Formats: sequence, structure tokens, C-alpha cells
Amino acid sequence: MKDLDFSNKTALVVGGSSGIGNGIAHALKDRGATVHVWGTRDAAKDYDGVEGSDLRGLHYDKMDVADFDAIENYTSPFDTLDILVLSQGTVVYNRGEFEMPGWLKVMDVNLNSLMACAAKFDDMLEASKGSLVIISSTAGYHATKGNPSYNASKTGAIGLVRTLGQAWAGRGIRVNGVAPGLVDTKLTKVTTDNPTRREAAISHIPAKRLGTPEDIAGAVLYLASPLASYVCGQTIPVDGGLIL
Ligand SMILES: NC(=O)c1ccc[n+]([C@@H]2O[C@H](COP(=O)([O-])OP(=O)(O)OC[C@H]3O[C@@H](n4cnc5c(N)ncnc54)[C@H](OP(=O)(O)O)[C@@H]3O)[C@@H](O)[C@H]2O)c1
Repeated sequence: MKDLDFSNKTALVVGGSSGIGNGIAHALKDRGATVHVWGTRDAAKDYDGVEGSDLRGLHYDKMDVADFDAIENYTSPFDTLDILVLSQGTVVYNRGEFEMPGWLKVMDVNLNSLMACAAKFDDMLEASKGSLVIISSTAGYHATKGNPSYNASKTGAIGLVRTLGQAWAGRGIRVNGVAPGLVDTKLTKVTTDNPTRREAAISHIPAKRLGTPEDIAGAVLYLASPLASYVCGQTIPVDGGLIL
């Protein structure tokens, strides 16, 4: 389908080294885009054999997104950027987010870095009349027991999508988001690798299965494509009906 052909488009998927972001990166690459990804390891080969991380055909750079100066000073290997996907994310378990170090770590990676990345690339996106897609979470729509910072960061991400969507639409940049439900990645192993917790989680999902990175990528492809040319500032839940 012509509208989902991303040939001659350049994309950067932050958090594209793993899980949902990696699935999004491959979905864009498979439809013709040149795709750059960021992750935390030194080199692409450091992800060899890692479950959920396939760096083949992607251009990799290391970036700690909690280092805002490093983002600002980053010299990009691309001159134009059509699609920026922000899929970085972390969580701290065992009540660590109730203490300031854990709270701040999650806020920096999940929320503050979104603005740092958006501000780094907004001029390039304006030049290309491009699209920014932020991966938040259905956690942004309800309380999440034990994870106050994850929750606040995702609620904030949904608000940021609205506000940047409004602020930048006039510059020709469409800003939208996707809020995944439960997807089996290294972020959620605490649930998905535990048979009891996994079955309990699935029992609350109307679609009766976990989501996949490909499920999330479908919504990102739509939002980044001309099919969504009049969609601004919206976050689409992709959750198998979880929060209905
Ligand atoms: N899985 C779910 O059920 C679910 C549900 C709702 C929302 N989400 C959201 O989806 C997004 C992707 O998560 P995922 O489930 O795909 O988890 P994941 O497989 O752990 O991927 C997280 C990505 O973020 C990167 N990252 C983490 N900290 C970073 C840092 N300080 N600097 C740079 N990159 C950093 C990771 O890099 P490395 O590969 O180097 O670790 C990885 O690429 C996150 O925003 C998450 O909150 C996930």
C-alpha cells in the first residue's frame, strides 16, 4: 500500500535496540525506511543473541537518554529525519520508585528524555514535515500499584503528546502517541516469565493474549503515515481491550 511505503524516509527509533522499539524499527525498515536506533550498549554486536534485540539492517548508536547534554551534543549521521519514535523506557521494582533515586531515574528516562529528544530533532522534523510518535503506556490511564514514577512518567508522556501536538502542528510536525498494554519484553519479564502472574494478566485482557511489538508497530506505522495526516496530539491505546 502506497501510504505505508516508507522508501526514502529516514527514521530514528530511540529505544529501538529492544522489545517494542525494535519491533517498530523493523516494521519501518521492512517498508523501505532507513532506520537508526539508539540503545544503552556500546555497539550493535553487544546485542547479538539477546532475546528481543535484532539489530540486523539497523544503524545503531549508543546513547544514555538520561544524559541530556549528550543528546544535545549528538552529531547525527543523518541530514534529514522524517520519523522520530521515542520508545525508551525503564521501571524500578521493589518499591524503589517510592525513594527519590528510583523516582528520578524513571522520570529522567521515561519523561524528561522525551523532551530532550524532541527538542533535539524538532527542526529536522519541521524541515521534512515529519512525525513524532511517543510510546507511553496504558499505565497513564489508571493507577499502577507499586510504581508511582512509572505511572507519573507515562501520564506525563500522554500530556506531552497533546501539548507538543498542539504546539508543533503549525510547523508541520505531527505529534502522536501509542499506549501499549502488556507486551512480553525484558521490561515485563517479572510478570510474563511467572506462569501464575502471566495467566492472571491475560485473564484481564479481553483479547485473551499479550500484545506483541508488531501489534504496537501497526499503530506507529499508521500514525507516521499520510493515512494519519489530520491526526494531531492523540495517543492510541493498543492493549487488546485491557483498559476498556
Ligand atoms: N512491555 C510492555 O508491556 C509495555 C507496556 C506499556 C508501555 N511500554 C513502553 O514501551 C517502551 C518500550 O519498552 P519495552 O517493553 O520494549 O522494554 P525494553 O525491551 O526494555 O526496551 C526499552 C528500551 O529503552 C532503552 N533504554 C532504557 N533505558 C535507557 C537509557 N537510559 N538510555 C537509552 N535507552 C534506554 C533500552 O535500551 P537497551 O536495549 O540497551 O536496554 C531499550 O531499547 C517503554 O517506553 C515502555 O515503558 C511497554
